[in-house]
Formats: sequence, C-alpha cells, structure tokens
Amino acid sequence: MSFKILGTGSCLPKRSVTNEELSQFLDTSDEWISQRVGIKARRICTTETTADLAVGAAKAAMEMSGVTADELDFILCATVTADNTTPSLACSVQSMIGATCPSMDINAACSGFIYLLETAAAFLSMKHERILIIGAERLTRVVDWTDRSTAVIFADGAGAMVLGKGDSYISSKLVAKGGDTVLSIPSFHGTSPFYEVEPKKPYVHMSGQEVFKFAVNAMCNDLADVIEAAGLTMDDIAWVIPHQANARIIDAAVRKFGIKPERCLKNIETTGNTSAASVAILADELFRSGKLKDGDYIAMAAFGAGLTSAACVIKWDGN
Ligand code: UT7
Repeated sequence: MSFKILGTGSCLPKRSVTNEELSQFLDTSDEWISQRVGIKARRICTTETTADLAVGAAKAAMEMSGVTADELDFILCATVTADNTTPSLACSVQSMIGATCPSMDINAACSGFIYLLETAAAFLSMKHERILIIGAERLTRVVDWTDRSTAVIFADGAGAMVLGKGDSYISSKLVAKGGDTVLSIPSFHGTSPFYEVEPKKPYVHMSGQEVFKFAVNAMCNDLADVIEAAGLTMDDIAWVIPHQANARIIDAAVRKFGIKPERCLKNIETTGNTSAASVAILADELFRSGKLKDGDYIAMAAFGAGLTSAACVIKWDGN
C-alpha cells in the first residue's frame, strides 16, 4: 500500500490580514498573537470560495504532474469547511476542472490531509492509477469574529497532490480518540419548530489549552512511532512538515526530538492555521523550493478536532 507523488500545488486567497488589522476590532495585539501563536498575518477569503482555492491548488498540482483531468481516477478532498453540506467539495472540484472520475470528501479536521494520503495509498493498491487529493479550507467562514481566542488563529487556503503508483509511502499512523467537545464546529441547527434543545452556535468552539496539551503529545508520539516503523531515526529525516497550529507546539516538538530547526518547516507566520490544507501547502512550498534531493525522507504530523492525529514518513522519489 503506497504511492508516488507526481505533483503538488497550493492556493491562498489574495487578501493578507495583519495582526494590527485584527487589533482594530478585537481586544488583542500584535505582541500577544506573535508571542503566543507565532502568526503575524494570515490569508483571508474576500471573494474566493473553498472550491476556488481547491481548484487553484489542484490545477497547479496537475500542471506539475502532467496529469490531465480526464486521466484522474479519483478525487478526494479533506475539509471541514466545504461550501455546501452536499454536494461534496470533491464533486464541485470535479466539475470545475472537467474531470469525470468518482469524487468524495473526508473529514478528519486538521489531520485530514494525512488521512487522505492513507486513503489514496489504499485506493492506489487497487485498480486506481492516478488520484488527486486536496486539503482546502475557508475557516474564516466558521470563526466567531467576536472571539479573540480563535479569530486570530484560523485562516484560509488549499494544498493538493497528484499521486500515482509507487513506493514513497514508508510508514504511517492514524489516530482518533475521544474529545469531541474539546474542539468543534456545530452544524447549522436549522429552523425546525419541533426541536427543543438550545443549539450551540455554528462557530469554532475550542478549549485552547486542552488542544495544546493533546497536540504536543500527539505530535511527539506519532512522529516517534512512524520514524521507528520506517526503521529510521530522526537524524535520517531530511524535512519535518508539522501542522501549523501554533509555533510553540512546533517548537516543543523540535526541542523534544532534537530536530534541526532549519529542517522543520514553518509558514504559520504568514499563512496562519489552515487546518486540512496546512501540511499540504507546506509540502508544496518544499517541493517547489528545489531543496529536495532524491531519496530524502520527509516526516509529516498533524492533529486536530475529533480528536484526531496522524503522521507519516514519505521518501522523495524525484524520477
Ligand atoms: O489546528 C487545530 C488545533 N488547534 C490548536 O492546536 C490550538 C492549540 N491551542 C493554542 O494554540 C493556544 O491554547 C491558544 C493560542 C488558543 C491560546 O494561547 P494560550 O497561551 O493557551 O492562552 P490562554 O487560553 O491560556 O489565555 C491566556 C490569556 C487569557 O487571559 P486571562 O484570562 O489570563 O486574563 C485569554 O483571555 O490570554 C487571553 N487571550 C488573548 N489575549 C489577547 C486569549 N486570546 C487572546 C488574544 N489576544 N487573541
């Protein structure tokens, strides 16, 4: 059960919003956000939909891979902020790029893109040859813009990969455990005159410190497990791609594993937390940077609502 990465892509909204801009209507400051989270600015949709971002990332990945829409066998999207409850984001992307293959979404929150890698690896071990996977979010649609503890963190963006058959997926670990009240986005409750329970508002609800503790443990345990399962040590890992939730969570993992900071990728300062898109955007930045060498091992790790977490080791095959 494996794959080869044929191409990557990403797409961010045009509008960048600084901490100073948020401070104009929220009781917050550039100093607090920079020190506690590590974000200076984030990209926020003004006219773009989640599908627009997903298609932008998909087209870039398809162009890099040389795979055309009619050659795709499946489209898989990870998102918690699809434009519609139905049709799926993947079906919207399918029609926007002119593909005809089966398409569906999965929801594993911020761990979603690594869950997609696992799903695609399984599909590619069966009859499918080429799969487009996309993590895409418009989280600023589900943030309560009066809640300073979440509004400053979440952002919008998309990252994609075209995968084919190959041997690059070396090891993986997917986790789902209890904790569904720690971080949630309740669905719109509707207008039924018969429903008697007071609904929670359909915005992000997060116990930040609880998620923080889970995140540090999950990322450290999952990375240790997938690196050991790959028969490697941290010294063998050329690049670490961690979910961009909080720079302090990433720094804790860097300290714990003795990861060389320059080998641990970060873009949270300018991109914010884009949930399922986060590791995919960073992977695209790495693949386009020219820094990757054939045979480099890349470790990815993510965590989020569910609670879920996931990690994997990928061996770069540039041929
Ligand atoms: O990708 C999904 C997974 N999500 C995460 O990984 C999030 C993990 N959690 C975090 O990143 C952090 O817990 C937060 C960034 C959300 C919060 O940072 P914290 O250091 O845990 O702060 P806190 O919640 O303990 O709050 C400390 C203080 C509080 O004030 P008091 O009660 O001490 O007076 C908050 O009200 O900071 C206050 N605060 C703020 N102050 C200025 C909370 N948000 C803000 C803000 N600006 N934006």
